[in-house]
Amino acid sequence: MRTVEPSKKILVTAEINGREQTFECTTRDTLADALRRSCGLTGIRLGCEHGVCGACTIDFDGRTARSCLMFAPQADGARIRTVEGLTDRTGHAPSEKDHLHPLQRAFAENFALQCGFCTPGFLMVALELVAANPQPTRAEIREAISGNICRCTGYETIVDAIEHYTRD
Ligand code: FES
Ligand code: FES
Repeated sequence: MRTVEPSKKILVTAEINGREQTFECTTRDTLADALRRSCGLTGIRLGCEHGVCGACTIDFDGRTARSCLMFAPQADGARIRTVEGLTDRTGHAPSEKDHLHPLQRAFAENFALQCGFCTPGFLMVALELVAANPQPTRAEIREAISGNICRCTGYETIVDAIEHYTRD
């Protein structure tokens, strides 16, 4: 039987935030660890590291996924978007605030974050919701974010922010 050396380094190539990138990882690295360490994508937060809190949520081939539950080699050939991919990187935004995605601005304006640790995960699930359902009800928003944990806000302002984003 062929055995795989768990600490063997391999190269993985994926489209990450619109740009093809190749990064090094081992066969047992989680995708969250590899993207944070090798690609500098520290907007991927590691809370529970076992699929409960949602802080590590990314867009993986058009669906949200918990990157702490995936192995890095699974990303080979995938299309990934992280919170870093939401901001305007064209250099044309007139101010720091204008770099933000409109949903990020809605979070800021509705006080939908305090420490901000959970925020990237909420942004990713909210964008997935709105892509499928552009005018969700508050109940639908609550259901969509129900798999993500926030220790600070009490969730109401997060629902407000997503609602405002879809109504603007
Ligand atoms: S760190 Fe991945 S779900 Fe909590
Ligand atoms: S803003 Fe602190 S955990 Fe959500």
